[in-house]
Amino acid sequence: MANKSNVLHSLMLIFITWRGSKRCCAMTVDPPEDLAVLDSGRLGQMQITWNPPGSLTKMTKCLPQYQLEYFNTYKNNWETLRTPMRTYSTQFDPSKDVHIRVYTILNGECTNNTMVMSKNCTETILKPPSTGVLDAEAEAFICVYHNMENLECSWTRSLKTPPSALQNLYFWHKSLDQAVECPSYLLSGGIRKGCNFPEKSLPEFTDIYFCVNGSSRDGPLKATFFSLQIQNQVKVTAPDKLHLQTSSDTELEFHWENPAGRLPAHCLEWEVRHRHVGADGKISLNHIHTEKPRLTLPFSNSSERNCFQVRSRLNSYCVDQSFWSDWSHETCHPDLENRESTLGPEMNFVSIYIYIAVVIIVILVVSLCVWAAVNMRKSGPQKKVDSLLPKLLTNNLTRRVSKIYSGKKICTDVVV
Ligand SMILES: *[C@@H]1O[C@H](CO)[C@@H](O)[C@H](O)[C@H]1NC(C)=O
Ligand SMILES: *[C@@H]1O[C@H](CO)[C@@H](O)[C@H](O)[C@H]1NC(C)=O
Ligand SMILES: *[C@@H]1O[C@H](CO)[C@@H](O)[C@H](O)[C@H]1NC(C)=O
Ligand SMILES: *[C@@H]1O[C@H](CO)[C@@H](O)[C@H](O)[C@H]1NC(C)=O
Repeated sequence: MANKSNVLHSLMLIFITWRGSKRCCAMTVDPPEDLAVLDSGRLGQMQITWNPPGSLTKMTKCLPQYQLEYFNTYKNNWETLRTPMRTYSTQFDPSKDVHIRVYTILNGECTNNTMVMSKNCTETILKPPSTGVLDAEAEAFICVYHNMENLECSWTRSLKTPPSALQNLYFWHKSLDQAVECPSYLLSGGIRKGCNFPEKSLPEFTDIYFCVNGSSRDGPLKATFFSLQIQNQVKVTAPDKLHLQTSSDTELEFHWENPAGRLPAHCLEWEVRHRHVGADGKISLNHIHTEKPRLTLPFSNSSERNCFQVRSRLNSYCVDQSFWSDWSHETCHPDLENRESTLGPEMNFVSIYIYIAVVIIVILVVSLCVWAAVNMRKSGPQKKVDSLLPKLLTNNLTRRVSKIYSGKKICTDVVV
């Protein structure tokens, strides 16, 4: 791709030169002067400035334009643009060579309306500062945007990082005046290993630039730079509500839900891991890709077993890339084994105790009711319970007896 555009670019230049030389005789223009690159201290945000060539100052018939070419160290390609301005700002990885070229372009009355570009360019190459402990830069830098809620970036130390080193993470994006330090470092064994950004602290669809630098007793550590857009770093939480049932004798229906959050539902896709254990004990594994949170599968033999796990990510219609979530727990049909294993032996004991307690209470209540009913009949079956109760309460009866009668009241209600 880069080669193609380079070839195209050269062809265009040849064509322009040819047209220029044919129609505009010996018309030439000098390259710009005073090319300067100013580092604004925003993690590689550089302001490039230049002036028109001195030979052009007497020419007033047409305004010069400029062709700027620079090597984009984050995309690893040359970028070309044309501008009438004398300044341009862009982001470089300052730990790499910054390579810039500028040409002058004339087009208008002064050139008989033919475009003329300077044959030579003005160029500059900035070398990164060679200070710092060699090979002590941060490695394996990665950022994960968990469920589109909080962003977590982490890195590892290289083997040559001095043990006394203290690493820092700075970040910058175009809405910030200056680079800002990590709001909350993640520590591992007292050493900074990452940074956590709370919800909504970084904008989506915006280039964010990160720098990990540091200091040590042996001197400063070499800084490393990274650039990303956070919506391309999403790792969804695994689906957690799995429902598996037979819809008929021949079909198995599986559907699931992702945990509620701010993920747009139309951006999700899933992968289902289907483990099939045949009647003969033979296991086969199958992965199914789906854009809807449900699947219907044929199933034939009741002595077979189907188990499913599912994971999720954002699809390529919504973001350039995303991470797969972890796998969900497994759900099976028939799910007998599953239930036993998830409840565990302790849970089973606890539920047995609860059943026994409930049965004892029921037996006690029923026998009390029966006893109370028999007593009532003896003392006078015509009397209503409601009229009997206040009398009993006014008498100097023990609390125990009143309790029994209130129990009786409930029993007659139930019987009637
Ligand atoms: C522009 O073209 C005209 C005729 O085609 C020619 O006489 C004139 O010298 C040209 N001007 C320049 C600046 O080349
Ligand atoms: C372009 O640069 C080369 C060498 O760098 C020089 O010999 C040549 O004269 C320059 N051409 C112009 C038009 O300035
Ligand atoms: C790390 O980078 C930040 C931002 O450019 C800067 O302010 C800080 O002084 C640097 N720290 C070290 C130890 O180089
Ligand atoms: C299921 O498979 C077993 C062994 O393959 C077979 O004996 C049984 O008849 C099958 N049952 C049904 C309902 O197809």
